[in-house]
Amino acid sequence: MILYEVLRLYPPAVLLTRATYKEMKVGEVLLPAGVELSLPTLLVHHDHELWGEDAEEFNPERFSGGISKATKNKVSFFPFGWGPRICIGQTFALIEAKLAFSHDSPKFLIQAFTHLCSCSIHCNNPSTPTWCATHLT
Ligand code: HEM
Repeated sequence: MILYEVLRLYPPAVLLTRATYKEMKVGEVLLPAGVELSLPTLLVHHDHELWGEDAEEFNPERFSGGISKATKNKVSFFPFGWGPRICIGQTFALIEAKLAFSHDSPKFLIQAFTHLCSCSIHCNNPSTPTWCATHLT
């Protein structure tokens, strides 16, 4: 929850960019080829309409029911991107962060690894068990 909240407030990748290589429809909008698109992760992660009045506050508890509940099933939390080009290093990065924390606190290590795959960030399934056979742990 703490790592998610840190990644929400301070996403290292503040902006995702794409370019259309052919005419394509995004929702109701028809885009010609050659359009550059920006998806401002930082702004979406701080949006009061999506996150509520406490959007600017550090509140890890908002993730206590998993990512799907925190975002009300909208794609409004994407520190590692989304879709087919989602970060392939996300699990590694989260393990690494937890190991760094655990360096000073072995107790944290046990908690970190029993909660590692609560997993809605990977498969978007809030009912996935803590130990998810599909993923690394
Ligand atoms: C906190 C750490 C990290 C963050 C916030 C992060 C964030 C991201 C984001 C947002 C994207 C998608 C970019 C886009 O859609 O345009 C991405 C892609 C990628 N990330 Fe990470 N990343 C992290 C760590 C890592 C690590 C540790 C590795 C490798 C060990 C890694 C490897 C990659 C690769 C290879 C892609 C490209 C995937 C593709 O285009 O198919 N990342 N990352």
